[in-house]
Amino acid sequence: MNKDLKNILFTQEEIQKKVKEIAAQLNEDYKGEEVIFVCVLKGSLPFYADLVREVKFPVTFDMVCVSSYGSNSESSGTLKIKLDSGVPFEGKNVLIVEDILDTGNTLSNLLAHFAKRNPKSIKLCCLLDKPSRRLRDIEADYKGFEIPDEFVVGYGLDYAEKYRELPYIGVLKPEVYQNN
Ligand code: IMP
Ligand code: MG
Repeated sequence: MNKDLKNILFTQEEIQKKVKEIAAQLNEDYKGEEVIFVCVLKGSLPFYADLVREVKFPVTFDMVCVSSYGSNSESSGTLKIKLDSGVPFEGKNVLIVEDILDTGNTLSNLLAHFAKRNPKSIKLCCLLDKPSRRLRDIEADYKGFEIPDEFVVGYGLDYAEKYRELPYIGVLKPEVYQNN
């Protein structure tokens, strides 16, 4: 385990099992449909890459890069869209793939932004959910694990751009971000 972590929450095996479960649900719900999967960079990259390889319907790749966090561990509440491919969503099924639903600021702003493009459907898929932190009225249509209010890293999730490469998800020692 990485020395900056307090404990591991989900091992690589547990994550892979959960990804397969989410994909099985998507395979039922989107049977016979085509779907644009939007990767919310950078945090959802590993989840996105694993998920798309488990689905059995045609997927178009898209991505968006947003930030609502500075280098600290609290959401700023305002969404900055740093990259938007502008792919047409008119009449298409869109699935937003995100690492974690926390306050909900990022995804509610992003949903409002995408809804203007008139998709046929738009749904949210989040690997992690911290319901106790929610500030907006938003829920994921598909979610992996509910977690307590602790700052987690690994499998795409970062603290100041670090720890994304870890194959598991763990709780960051509070002293790591309190010293910054
Ligand atoms: P929200 O706007 O507060 O819902 O925050 C969503 C974004 O905050 C996610 O896409 C993550 O990038 C980041 N985030 C929230 N909680 C954590 C965490 O525990 N670890 C790492 N990033 C987090
Ligand atoms: Mg993110």
